[in-house]
Amino acid sequence: MAVFILLLLLTVSVVTADEDSFVGVNIGTDLSDMPHPTQVVALLKAQQIRHVRLYNADQGMLVALSNTGIRVMVSVPNEQLLGIGQSNSTAANWVSRNVVAHYPASNITAICVGSEVLTGLPNAATVLVNALKFIHSALLASNLDRQIKVSSPLSTSIIFDSFPPSQAFFNRSLNPVLVPMLNFLQSTGSYLMLNIYPYYDYMQSNGVIPLDYALFKPLPSNKEAVDANTLVHYSNVFDAMVDAAYFAMAFLNFTNIPIVVTESGWPSKGDSNEPDATLDNANTYNSNLIRHVLNKTGTPKRPGIAVSTYIYELYNEDTKPGPVSEKNWGLFNANGEPVYVLHLAGSGSVLANDTSNQTYCTAKEGSDPKMLQAALDWACGAGKVDCSAMSQGAPCYEPDNVIAHATYAFDTYYHQMGKAPGTCDFNGVAAVTTSDPSHGSCVFPGSLGRSINGTLSNITAPSMNSTVSDSAVHKLHHGAFAHVMLVGVVLWSIAFL
Ligand SMILES: *[C@@H]1O[C@H](CO)[C@@H](O)[C@H](O)[C@H]1NC(C)=O
Ligand SMILES: *[C@@H]1O[C@H](CO)[C@@H](O)[C@H](O)[C@H]1NC(C)=O
Ligand SMILES: *[C@@H]1O[C@H](CO)[C@@H](O)[C@H](O)[C@H]1NC(C)=O
Ligand SMILES: *[C@@H]1O[C@H](CO)[C@@H](O)[C@H](O)[C@H]1NC(C)=O
Ligand SMILES: *[C@@H]1O[C@H](CO)[C@@H](O)[C@H](O)[C@H]1NC(C)=O
Ligand SMILES: *[C@@H]1O[C@H](CO)[C@@H](O)[C@H](O)[C@H]1NC(C)=O
Ligand SMILES: *[C@@H]1O[C@H](CO)[C@@H](O)[C@H](O)[C@H]1NC(C)=O
Ligand SMILES: *[C@@H]1O[C@H](CO)[C@@H](O)[C@H](O)[C@H]1NC(C)=O
Ligand SMILES: *[C@@H]1O[C@H](CO)[C@@H](O)[C@H](O)[C@H]1NC(C)=O
Ligand SMILES: *[C@@H]1O[C@H](CO)[C@@H](O)[C@H](O)[C@H]1NC(C)=O
Repeated sequence: MAVFILLLLLTVSVVTADEDSFVGVNIGTDLSDMPHPTQVVALLKAQQIRHVRLYNADQGMLVALSNTGIRVMVSVPNEQLLGIGQSNSTAANWVSRNVVAHYPASNITAICVGSEVLTGLPNAATVLVNALKFIHSALLASNLDRQIKVSSPLSTSIIFDSFPPSQAFFNRSLNPVLVPMLNFLQSTGSYLMLNIYPYYDYMQSNGVIPLDYALFKPLPSNKEAVDANTLVHYSNVFDAMVDAAYFAMAFLNFTNIPIVVTESGWPSKGDSNEPDATLDNANTYNSNLIRHVLNKTGTPKRPGIAVSTYIYELYNEDTKPGPVSEKNWGLFNANGEPVYVLHLAGSGSVLANDTSNQTYCTAKEGSDPKMLQAALDWACGAGKVDCSAMSQGAPCYEPDNVIAHATYAFDTYYHQMGKAPGTCDFNGVAAVTTSDPSHGSCVFPGSLGRSINGTLSNITAPSMNSTVSDSAVHKLHHGAFAHVMLVGVVLWSIAFL
């Protein structure tokens, strides 16, 4: 497919940002040792997280969040939706107890009415719009309707033919709910709430969607997805999905409703059927997502228009049912330790920084010694690591074993590559750690006190056959996933041919 640079130039110059985009975090509570609200808020403050979404309107959390400056979206849980959608006074009571009682000390900015109702709770679909209206009229009665928006998070699985985005449309059977809902969002100045999971789109595409494309990694231009109607290039699944939602709304003649992504993320651990739920991929996805959102580039269809996004999620939820990945979407463990340290050095003030805590690349204990030796040889050869510090008599010669030497070589390579995603893998025998492996006079790259010069970085160099080569065919796990993209896969294949 031909590349039309002209169009890229055109899209860049159209609109400029007029509002700030932000990154927030979802706080799920299915943990066996859920931290106390004051501990949760201490973590949010330490990580400078300024926007959160709760899945309910927990009194303890709202009290703990009061006077912190942290903005909070509260939710009407699906279990309460039927009651609220059927009774104006139930809705009014809910608002007075859970919102009016806490505002403005707790800066409630939105009410999420249910969660993925159209796909997860279809029998409540008929009352959804009434629920939105009842909640809104209660806010209006308290004169809070301008400060607090009302909407309902949708799953992207209701968007059909999502690639190319310009052909996307909503499942037509849902129009009787969606049209009045979009009317409501438009007339109240609210936004469409969307949960976007490139992880599931990738998993269910049977290899059609490249992993790099889901992870916001650069693609060669001949691999970029081009929308044949608009000739717009898509470099990541996230943008394509946001644009698909804009087009699907436009198809119903709604062209000015903004989008807020209420959930997006990547699991850091999975079972044997989920080989791409890894620490490295989760870190890459979330780091790139944060950078992308804060950069205010918008999407190809609406450049410069903020798409604020809430990461799914703050904590790993160990008591969630389902596959291993379901329990491992978190940025932090219950004790507040980061599951991984985001690659965000330099990009400032959100979430765990690289800079606050050094990271190192080490050989994994228990790795196959032959694989370690091969990786060590590669690092000291094609990987261009200066391995002279490990020669006899040099500071890192002792202990003279393959795991110690491989660790030194891996860590040096990792830092030479600017700690870029995928550069601490070495076919799975390496892992990122926060404990400094330096010993005696053997000081490791990245160790505090001697920072290596990153100027040698050659980002295009391959990190051996790292995770990028995992193109194994993924079996679909129907029913196991909450977010199933049923249609669109066929069109993806056309787009990537
Ligand atoms: C992140 O890094 C910046 C710059 O080094 C620093 O000012 C900020 O306090 C760090 N944030 C956290 C949460 O450590
Ligand atoms: C609450 O959040 C809104 C939206 O970010 C902001 O405009 C407002 O100033 C905040 N209010 C307080 C009291 O911090
Ligand atoms: C619902 O109740 C509010 C007061 O909370 C009232 O202003 C509004 O008119 C009522 N709406 C309907 C549809 O009954
Ligand atoms: C479209 O929506 C209808 C109504 O909820 C549902 O029954 C149907 O399964 C949906 N179609 C697909 C392909 O998801
Ligand atoms: C959208 O607007 C066009 C032109 O006004 C009209 O022909 C079309 O029926 C509308 N579509 C919907 C779904 O309302
Ligand atoms: C932000 O986006 C612009 C334009 O797309 C790009 O040139 C720049 O490198 C990006 N900055 C970051 C920090 O990603
Ligand atoms: C680095 O992280 C470790 C474990 O997560 C923690 O114990 C330590 O206090 C952190 N150090 C700094 C300087 O933040
Ligand atoms: C690091 O790189 C800079 C810029 O290339 C160079 O001026 C400086 O001397 C280097 N420092 C070390 C310790 O190599
Ligand atoms: C980066 O590495 C690639 C492959 O090893 C090589 O072809 C290229 O010349 C290198 N670029 C630089 C600037 O060193
Ligand atoms: C990558 O894997 C291929 C096939 O398994 C092999 O031929 C090649 O040598 C490997 N490259 C490296 C750098 O290990």
